[in-house]
Amino acid sequence: LFKNSEFDFDIFVRIMLLGDSGVGKTCLLTKYRDGNFLSGNYIATVGVDFKNKIVTIDQTRIKLQIWDTAGQERFRSITHAYYRDAHALLLLYDVTNKTSFDNIRAWLGEIREYAQGDVVIMLLGNKADCGIQRAVRREDGERLSREYNVFFMETSAKSGQNVDLAFLTVARELKYRQ
Ligand code: GTP
Ligand code: MG
Repeated sequence: LFKNSEFDFDIFVRIMLLGDSGVGKTCLLTKYRDGNFLSGNYIATVGVDFKNKIVTIDQTRIKLQIWDTAGQERFRSITHAYYRDAHALLLLYDVTNKTSFDNIRAWLGEIREYAQGDVVIMLLGNKADCGIQRAVRREDGERLSREYNVFFMETSAKSGQNVDLAFLTVARELKYRQ
């Protein structure tokens, strides 16, 4: 009855998107789930929003429930309440915005405070398509990820670079670590 439906899965995981306002969390999720890029006028996320996607990894059907959070400061107390329910966190900065990168340490501090101790964390340098406006080098992202022992990739919600791979990598990690 439920074959190939949203109820047909073996594992359920909750993935949360975090990072400063405007780094591209909503665009990344939209690109991953629906395949299109939201360009033009930016609409800030209010509170939290989620989308589901089922992926198959080595014959296991994994239902990803992906929570898109608001980066704006005034919504932080709302989003903190959801951290502990996340199995994995995708923490984004914008490679064209140095401040969003500098804020990553503060984000990791909040994660340590509110999330589960064994949460899977992946740092993502988004907007990697923006060649000349780049303000954060790939090596700097890599170095920070090594310091905190988290996964790292550069992504682009516009070109699609590493978008599927980022979600699949955390899903695979969650499947195999049990
Ligand atoms: P909040 O909801 O306020 O936390 O912001 P957000 O992180 O969800 O940002 P959002 O996805 O709405 O993107 C902000 C702006 O960046 C939009 O104008 C997007 O078009 C643009 N953008 C997002 N991802 C990319 C990308 O990979 N490349 C480029 N060039 N622009 C991007
Ligand atoms: Mg958003």
